[in-house]
Parts: sequence; C-alpha cells; structure tokens
Amino acid sequence: MRVLVTGGAGYIGSVVAEVLVAEGHGVVVYDNLAKGHRDAVPPGAEFVHADLGDATALRQTLERQRVEAVVHMAADSLVGESVTEPAKYYANNVGNGLALLDAMRAAGVARLVFSSTVAVHGEPTKLPIEEDDPTAPVNPYGETKLAFERALRWYGEAYGLHSVSLRYFNAAGATELCGERHDPETHLVPIVLDVAAGDRDEVTVFGDDYPTRDGTCIRDYIHVRDLARAHVLAIAACDAGAAVYNLGVGGEGTTVLEVLDAARAVTGHPIPARVGPRRPGDPARLVASSARIERALGWRPEIPDIRTIVESAWRFRARRAAARDARRAPG
Ligand code: UFG
Repeated sequence: MRVLVTGGAGYIGSVVAEVLVAEGHGVVVYDNLAKGHRDAVPPGAEFVHADLGDATALRQTLERQRVEAVVHMAADSLVGESVTEPAKYYANNVGNGLALLDAMRAAGVARLVFSSTVAVHGEPTKLPIEEDDPTAPVNPYGETKLAFERALRWYGEAYGLHSVSLRYFNAAGATELCGERHDPETHLVPIVLDVAAGDRDEVTVFGDDYPTRDGTCIRDYIHVRDLARAHVLAIAACDAGAAVYNLGVGGEGTTVLEVLDAARAVTGHPIPARVGPRRPGDPARLVASSARIERALGWRPEIPDIRTIVESAWRFRARRAAARDARRAPG
C-alpha cells in the first residue's frame, strides 16, 4: 500500500516509516522538520518537506504520490507546553489535523491511523487502563488528541473515513536506524542515558512520595518498534470503522527508580540521581490493558522488558556518537 506518514521524520514516525518500508509498503514521509530530522527518514521512503497547514502541498502530495492510507503522527506533544500555549496545540493538533482530513476527502483517501495518547484519560480511575474508561484530559495536549479522535468517529459516520486511533503509553528504545533525539529532551530514558554518557551531571527524580511500590511514578514503557508494528497491522485493519486501541506492555509497569536501575545495569555507570519535587500533572500510575488490540489484530509486544528497551536506546546513542566522531576525525 502507498502510505503517507505525517511527522515521519520524528522519533516514533521514523520508526513507523522504517517498519512500513521493511514490510514492503510504499512510504512517503511528510514533515516540516520543526522537530524532526531529515536524516531520520529511512532509506527507501520518499520525503516531502512541507507543513500540514499547507493545503496545496498536502493535496498535491496525496494525489501525485497516489496515497492510499495515512499515518498521522505530526503533532505537538509536550504536556507542560500545552498548558502555557494551548493555542499552539489547538491550531496544530486539531486545526491542521482537520485540514488533513479535508485534503484526504478531496483526494479520495479513506484510511487513517492516528497517533493518540493515554493523556486522553487524564487521571485514571482504575488500572490497567482500558479504552472505554472515562476520558477526562487534564491538559490541552490530551484534550486536543481526544478532540481529534472524536472527529474521526463523526467523519467515519458521515464521510466513510476508516480510522484507527492508537493510544500510546510511554514509547522508548530505538531500532538500528532510528531513536529518540528531542530538543529540549524531557523524557526519562534519554535523560538517564545522557547522564550515563557524561552529557548531564545527574537525573532529577520528580517526586518519591507517590503511592507506589518505591514512591516514584509508574509508567508503561513500550519499545518503539512494538509500537510501530501496531501501525502496520492497523493500516490493514482500517476498513473496520473508527477503532481505538491502547498500546502498552501492561503488567505492573516500571517505576522511575527501576528505569534508573535498568540503565545502571546496561551502561555500567552509577548514574547519580537526586529527588526533586513532583512534576505538575504527573499521574502516579499509568499502565495499559492492550487486550483489545491483541484480540482484534493479534498484536503483542515482543520486547516487554525495560532492560532490553533501555539497552536498545543505549546502542543507538553509541552508534550516533561513533558516527559523529568519525565525521570529526581528521583526514
Ligand atoms: N521523570 C523524572 N525525571 C525526569 C524526567 C521524567 O523523574 O527528568 C519521570 C516523570 O515524572 C514520569 C516518568 O519519569 O513519572 C516518565 O516521564 P516522561 O517525561 O518520560 O514521560 P511521561 O509519562 O510524562 O509522558 C508520556 C509521553 C507523553 C504523554 C504523556 C501522557 O511521553 O508524550 O505520557 O501522560 F503526553
């Protein structure tokens, strides 16, 4: 199938593009490179450097590239920023998202896989979180993702759009080609590995007085390749209507201190940490039930342990550092 991946030069998008190419799909990455990286676009994928707000470029790309399905990952995704700049999140995550749906309708493209988030639930009412649990976002990031999910349902009923929304929990890890490199970096795993590599002095643990087994927050870390594999399955399943699936590993989840221990074991570095205040808006525990996608699409995580996930991110870091050193070496 010919698949357009919006945001395909970003962390998760580039891995989705990589897996799609590996599975024989024709891939067009559409990215404005505001946060993505040109060199993250995998070999074998075409690249269009354009903004989702550029209706002409979008329409032309859909038509000229004979796109049959869209994976929509281009979005703003920082919870804290969304609270101080909601306008940016509504404009990009809702406004540009709806412009994409209009362009798809005009071009006759009826399949969409949308990257959504556990943040649509806000503070969970029970664990593990299931798709039909109450949605009550506590920040504009989650609110705008939920608004778009809801639009998909109505566009499905009125215009015949087939969609799958995938609600991500905590994506982490890397493939041989693609990994995480945000600027600024806010995510735990790359920050911890920055310390191990000597790029930061220490990790601040955001609170150790949560009602969890060691007092630090519990998250459901999922390997980015497992996440990407679900998109490939979802594209094939798009005909079924407007579906929503959680993507996590489940089980007991992993605490911040357990991530630190895994990183110490993987890197052999002591990784100094100090406890700081809680980060506003952090729920104590977020763990997914992914039973629905397992039942419907046969998806299961292949890499369920935090140590293997961290190890893949560490190897990605080492490869990038080696490539940087080789470029700098004289001669
Ligand atoms: N943490 C620290 N120190 C740090 C960074 C993070 O203790 O320097 C903690 C956080 O408090 C949290 C855990 O590590 O308990 C994971 O934090 P991340 O920032 O890596 O991930 P989040 O769980 O905050 O974010 C994830 C996704 C977001 C999404 C959010 C929804 O990465 O895109 O879940 O809740 F919006």
